Amino acid sequence: MLDNFGREITYMRMSVTELCNLRCRYCMPEDGVCKKAHEQMLTEDEMINAVRAASSLGVKKLRITGGEPLVKKNIVSICARSAAVNGINEVCLTTNGTLLPKLAKPLKDAGVKRLNISLDTLSEEKYRYISRVGELKDALTGIETALETGFEKIKLNAVLIGGFNDCEISELAALTKKWPVDVRFIELMPMYDSGDFGSEAFIPYTVVTDRLPELTEQNADGGVARLYRLPDAKGNIGLISPVSAHFCAQCSRIRLTADGKIKPCLHSGAEYSVKGLDLEGMRTQFERAILAKPKWHGELDAVNRSHAGRNMNEIGG
Ligand code: GTP
Ligand code: 5AD
Ligand code: SF4
Repeated sequence: MLDNFGREITYMRMSVTELCNLRCRYCMPEDGVCKKAHEQMLTEDEMINAVRAASSLGVKKLRITGGEPLVKKNIVSICARSAAVNGINEVCLTTNGTLLPKLAKPLKDAGVKRLNISLDTLSEEKYRYISRVGELKDALTGIETALETGFEKIKLNAVLIGGFNDCEISELAALTKKWPVDVRFIELMPMYDSGDFGSEAFIPYTVVTDRLPELTEQNADGGVARLYRLPDAKGNIGLISPVSAHFCAQCSRIRLTADGKIKPCLHSGAEYSVKGLDLEGMRTQFERAILAKPKWHGELDAVNRSHAGRNMNEIGG
């Protein structure tokens, strides 16, 4: 389906939980999540109906997000049933990777084609700092398990934070020589209530191209990242610039939160509920949400924070 600005909506990001086993500073407050009542959250059947409704309007790609989707007990079943929905060509998942040692194989068997795994630093101490509670070795073991499991594609996501990991750009980028993965640097987005990093933390993606002059440009893969490559690398370097050079004109995405709200845009406060609706009711809500998709998300920086009205873990990125 086309929105009011001629953009075709083909990609849904569906969050299956707001909960997470980590507490990343850019994503959620220290005291974690104010757990919503069970009855407020979508059931598995409602999620699958929502995937059906979105698919009937032209969504072909589904990305499962969270919170951390792998803390959801029925995650394998959600993935398998989503992958079986008519019209869904690709089910992908974004994870912090720490639970992949147990779940990589079942997820692949359920039909998950591609994984994006967060990895912001290669320092044990900094990993503990940014995730507040996590251990770097758990994420690395998860990535290695995913590599052994043989997904079609694995991308590593590093949120670029000035004064935190900008000194590790070379080391993180070098992972594309060690492993057949893409490494993507994502500009920090100022979310509602997440960590206040100060204005020096908001650095543009161009620091990466400045730091790595040996990068050569590559053709885009249909995603939001500008792609580059290091000499002799097995994967690409992707630069995602929601803040310094937004990509709203090419946006093909719609989002569904774990509590059943369709968000026409990551940074808009508008929400359309599908909780408790049947397939036809959900379809109507998706149509409304797509037609309400704003042209762009407005200025974002340390001062102009997101209007999403939620933290990242309550949206799904
Ligand atoms: P691919 O399918 O590999 O292209 O995945 P993806 O980049 O869409 O998904 P991922 O979950 O890895 O998200 C990477 C980063 O891009 C996250 O920080 C998202 O919040 C951000 N992102 C994805 N879509 C949008 C969008 O529509 N707007 C903005 N501002 N950021 C987005
Ligand atoms: N800014 C940029 N990226 C973020 N992510 C979470 N919070 C933010 C933020 N404030 C990233 C995670 C994950 C992806 C879904 O979104 O690192 O890789
Ligand atoms: Fe959890 Fe991902 Fe948010 Fe970190 S960024 S707290 S891993 S949902």
